[in-house]
Amino acid sequence: MARRKIIAGNWKMNKTPSEAKELVNTLKPLVENPDVDVVYCVPAIDIVPVGEAIRGTNVQLGAENMSDQDKGAYTGEISADMLLDAGVKFVIIGHSERRGYYHEDDAFLNRKVLKAFEKGLTPILCCGESLEQREAGVTLDWIRLQIKSDLQGVTAEQAKTMVIAYEPIWAIGTGKTATADQAEEVCGAIRSTIAEIYDTDTAEAIRIQYGGSMNAGNCKELLAKPDIDGGLIGGAALKPDFGKIVNYNKD
Ligand code: 13P
Repeated sequence: MARRKIIAGNWKMNKTPSEAKELVNTLKPLVENPDVDVVYCVPAIDIVPVGEAIRGTNVQLGAENMSDQDKGAYTGEISADMLLDAGVKFVIIGHSERRGYYHEDDAFLNRKVLKAFEKGLTPILCCGESLEQREAGVTLDWIRLQIKSDLQGVTAEQAKTMVIAYEPIWAIGTGKTATADQAEEVCGAIRSTIAEIYDTDTAEAIRIQYGGSMNAGNCKELLAKPDIDGGLIGGAALKPDFGKIVNYNKD
C-alpha cells in the first residue's frame, strides 16, 4: 500500500497566539488536499488557540518539543498529557536546533520517543548531518547511529506509525536545499536501517520526510522520490507558499 504523504509545518519560535490564529485563517483555504496529511507543529503557547482555529479542518495539531517526564517539578517543561489534553497528535523530537542549542543527546531523545509512544503521541523524530560530516563522507554512518540510538526499545508496531524527518543541518534556513538525489539517498538509507532493526514491513510502513529549505519551487521534485514521504517545512510554513507545498500533486 502506498504511503500517505505527510506535510508538516514547523513554526519554530514564530507567531504570537493572535498572529497564529491569523495565519491559520489565511492558510485555511490553501491547505485542503484530501491526498495529504497536514500538520502544524506550533510553539507551546500557540497550541490551544491553533487547536481551536483548525477545528473542523483537515489540519492536525503538533508540538515542537515535549518533556521526557510525566509531571512534577520540571520548571518550564510541558508533558505529553498536557499536549494530549490540548488535542496534539504529533510531536517533533530531536530537531537539530534542540540537539545543537540545548544539548539534547540521543539518550535523552530516546526517552522522549518512548514517552511519546507510551502516551499515544506520534513522534516526528529528526536526524541530520552537519556540513563537516557531509564533507568528511560520514553522513550515512551518522544518520544510522542517530536512528539506532533514538529508537532503542521502540517496537516494530510503534515504529510503523511514526515519522522520521531527515533534515541536513546545512540546508536548514539557509536556502540551500539538498538535491532530490542527495535527499533520496539518505531517506533510502534510513528506510534500510529500519528494515535492519525491524523488518521490511516496518520499513515500508514508516513515513520519512525531508526538511531543509523545502519550498513551493523545489517540493515537487523532492516529493517525487520513492523514499520521501513528505516534508518538514520551516520558513515556508509561515507563508501562503505552504499551501502550494501541500498541493504539490495538483496541476
Ligand atoms: P527551513 O524550511 O526554514 O529550512 O527549516 C527546516 C526545518 O528545520 C524544519 O524543521
